[in-house]
Amino acid sequence: MLTIRSLVVLGLLWATADASPQSRKKGGNGRAKTAQQQAALIPQGVSKATDGSMILDTTWPRHPLQDLRSRRRLHPESGVPGGAAAAGTPGTMGLNVLLHANPPRSAGDGGQSFFDFPNQAVQKNLMGVAVLAPNKNLFWGGGSGLQRTDGVAHAQAVADLVTKVLPGVAAFNASDVSFTGVSGGSLLLSGFFVPAHAAQFQGASGGVLLNCGGLAPQVDVAAADAAAIAKTRIHFQSTQQELSSLQPAIPQAIAAYEKLASGAGAAADQIGVLQTVDNSPNGGHCEFDEKDFVSGVQLMADSFSAIMQGGNGQVAGKNVLNPVVGNEKLSFKAGNRRSMAAALRV
Ligand SMILES: *[C@@H]1O[C@H](CO)[C@@H](O)[C@H](O)[C@H]1NC(C)=O
Repeated sequence: MLTIRSLVVLGLLWATADASPQSRKKGGNGRAKTAQQQAALIPQGVSKATDGSMILDTTWPRHPLQDLRSRRRLHPESGVPGGAAAAGTPGTMGLNVLLHANPPRSAGDGGQSFFDFPNQAVQKNLMGVAVLAPNKNLFWGGGSGLQRTDGVAHAQAVADLVTKVLPGVAAFNASDVSFTGVSGGSLLLSGFFVPAHAAQFQGASGGVLLNCGGLAPQVDVAAADAAAIAKTRIHFQSTQQELSSLQPAIPQAIAAYEKLASGAGAAADQIGVLQTVDNSPNGGHCEFDEKDFVSGVQLMADSFSAIMQGGNGQVAGKNVLNPVVGNEKLSFKAGNRRSMAAALRV
């Protein structure tokens, strides 16, 4: 049996009616396939991660809230050595759960961080998990642009996945769960997930890494969640030529999170350690290496420990750990005038 360290890294897709065999057939009848239908064509199962650990790519047929029985499907039939034995018992490794960007408009635009799975290598005791958004367009929070109309439901689904489904798949330390967002994934995390579920994940030692996207909370924040936010490590990372729609949205998110923490009693110097920000790379949306989207996102995923787990904060030779206090108003270059929806819509 493999040890947990080399056992499981997970990619997960919630199928909906859109990914059913019937609708795939429809796609074959001449209609353009949705992003979700295209994703459903990519084989699932077990494969090898870049660091030699194992990737399990699997689907839950329904939202875990509706069908908790779907958990069982994975156990004996999963084919993951050690998976059944290890699952359901508390483990020592934590999780780094990644929510991807909107899919690219065309294959040439590169990946959107689910199939690339930039957090697949085990990093400082965290297993990577990438979750595919449960809708046709594969947009986290649904809607488009900054209007994520299904944000509440998707945030609930992510919380349920981590607390109700994953424990049936892998052994992990439920008090050590971190989250990484890329673009649209960051909008869901900052706009909906953290405001509504921070208290549920209060034990998260790694916190929330928000890459190339941020929204002020779009829902009411309960006192318990605000108190948890005041103890949560959050890093906002953007670039000089960020999308024009995000250039105001990210600073608004920063100001809102700072205010939530101070409202819950955190002092400015505490907030400056817990909440950090950087937008120094001279690149476009998610081009943190000043070159391209995919390699830029990979750089951030590779820098997770340095930024989020008490490391030196160095990304490509630069310290990104600038306290949000006093740095709320980011300065951007007039850059990318494309709107989020136009730049990223399929
Ligand atoms: C789980 O994670 C928490 C928070 O990082 C840590 O304090 C605890 O020791 C971990 N438990 C195990 C069994 O590793």
